[in-house]
Amino acid sequence: MCGIVAYLGEKQAYPILINGLRRLEYRGYDSAGVALLADDQLTIYKCQGKVSDLEAHINGRSTVANLGIGHTRWATHGPPNDVNAHPHQGTSGDLALIHNGIIENYAPIKEELVHRGHVFKSDTDTEVLVHLIDDIQRSEGVDLAEAVRLALANVVGAYAIVVIDRKNPDVMVAARKSSPLVIGLGEGEFFCASDATPIVEHTKNVVYMEDGEIAVLDRRQGLKIRNIKNQVKTPFIQELELHLEALEKGGYDHFMLKEIHEQSRSIRDSMRGRLNLAKGEVVLGGIKDYEQKFVNAKRILIVGCGTSWHAGMVGEYLFEEFARIPVEVEYASEFRYRNPVVNEDDIVIAISQSGETADTLAAIELAKGRGATIIGICNVVGSSIARVTHAGSYTHAGPEIGVASTKAFTAQVTVLTLMALMIGQKKGTLIGGNFHRLLNELDAIPDKVQKVLKTEAQIKYIADIYKDAPNALYLGRGYTFPVALEGALKLKEISYIHAEGYPAAEMKHGPIALIDDSMPVFVIATKGASYEKVVSNIQEVKARKGRIIAIVTEGDTVVKDLADHVIEIPETADPLVPLLSVVPLQLISYHIAVMRGCNVDQPRNLAKSVTVE
Ligand code: M6R
Repeated sequence: MCGIVAYLGEKQAYPILINGLRRLEYRGYDSAGVALLADDQLTIYKCQGKVSDLEAHINGRSTVANLGIGHTRWATHGPPNDVNAHPHQGTSGDLALIHNGIIENYAPIKEELVHRGHVFKSDTDTEVLVHLIDDIQRSEGVDLAEAVRLALANVVGAYAIVVIDRKNPDVMVAARKSSPLVIGLGEGEFFCASDATPIVEHTKNVVYMEDGEIAVLDRRQGLKIRNIKNQVKTPFIQELELHLEALEKGGYDHFMLKEIHEQSRSIRDSMRGRLNLAKGEVVLGGIKDYEQKFVNAKRILIVGCGTSWHAGMVGEYLFEEFARIPVEVEYASEFRYRNPVVNEDDIVIAISQSGETADTLAAIELAKGRGATIIGICNVVGSSIARVTHAGSYTHAGPEIGVASTKAFTAQVTVLTLMALMIGQKKGTLIGGNFHRLLNELDAIPDKVQKVLKTEAQIKYIADIYKDAPNALYLGRGYTFPVALEGALKLKEISYIHAEGYPAAEMKHGPIALIDDSMPVFVIATKGASYEKVVSNIQEVKARKGRIIAIVTEGDTVVKDLADHVIEIPETADPLVPLLSVVPLQLISYHIAVMRGCNVDQPRNLAKSVTVE
């Protein structure tokens, strides 16, 4: 949550910052601001609203500067308004600071600073930090970097910050703990950002900062990194693999639509080099050293949040069926706040698109502390979760910018399928013909996804009929129960229609009371183990006049006779149905949200990367 970007070099900082903020806007869009330093003057522009509102606010005013910092906010402490927008300043007015994270002990620090005569303007925790740095700088007579270090030694919480000092236009200081921060190294110029997206068009050379590090970016002396204990650290420079086109809408109206349509490609990328049909094997290089541990595992725990948790639920069915290992799937936020039984024999699979979700990170730390082996499934390369896990497999879905997760889900499920297949084969629980049949079926999934996408016109027609429904139910069974949950989440988060996902058979234990002739019920009723049972559930809904929108297997005639609408998907093996059946549900939500005039890519109150608890 919150995106930060900074520039120090010879070029004009403002266009770089604004462009960077647009790229980071998925992280929060409650307010935006920049601080620009030129001719010993700090100029701050900030306002409530989106980056476009900031541009309108600045329109025509001077932005000349080759040092600047920028911020786009997802509000935690204090409502979204002009005053709470970043950057913030201390009492002297010499410093400007941007922050992503939460300063948990801001209250006692603020009390002490107020006692020392500091006057606060905003309700934010961030303002406390800049006052503290300002206070230390002046009272201790130290330079900015040392003042930052001393201040951070007093701070409890999470932060990625960049600070600039009116008196020293050659330097910016950045620091991180539990919130991401990337440094870009150009020719005589430096960039800092919450992720690499604002940097990629300027340089491919980046340093991902580690927790507890403080970086000094100096025009004359280059980059120097120390940790909070003042020990010198050697920056590890990496080359970015990100491509600019991946960050553009590519002709689509929204990132979400582009990302839905990318799924044939992204699923293929998730399998690339891992699924070898000719040899009849699955190789996941990232977890190779842990294969035996998986084979011997008595239990797997899967942790994640939101859509990643739904993917984890599919993973539960996959691992139990293919590898016969008991699996428990936990919301990371619940797992971390109870006292779970975790031991050295456990494998914990942490799933996260962003690799930055605070609750998932905390769950990993807890499980790691108890000796479990942690395997990550992340999309963002170099992200915090990817770095704190023992091993893992990237999903390779490419950047996902729409706040609603789509291609990340199918990529996560693809990687979980590969993992479960690989372990099942190694363990001997998934033998011969079945293993090979599944490999072939999996290989065919990208083409089948492409076929599902061709139903979009029909889906749009259905969306138009149900766009004004106040509620919706989603039903699935077995492998498609998590898909029902995911379909409901998609509708809720982008169209603001109340939706519930249920196991189809559970409906009669309560939710059936909600059904009347105005209730759309989306049912995944594909051919497979639970088909007849789901058909009975559809009958139950019809008997109460509910409106059925069914996702069925191509050629189905039984459900066609019962349902108000059917959307056909190609036939595949039961365990792979989630990869196909989720696509129409993503498209339905997308089109309903567009028809309702909702901001699909930036739904209200949400942010892409939830780096607060
Ligand atoms: O980056 P992560 O996968 O860890 O994010 C987890 C959730 O915040 C995320 O899936 C969220 O639920 C999405 N908005 C769902 O579309």
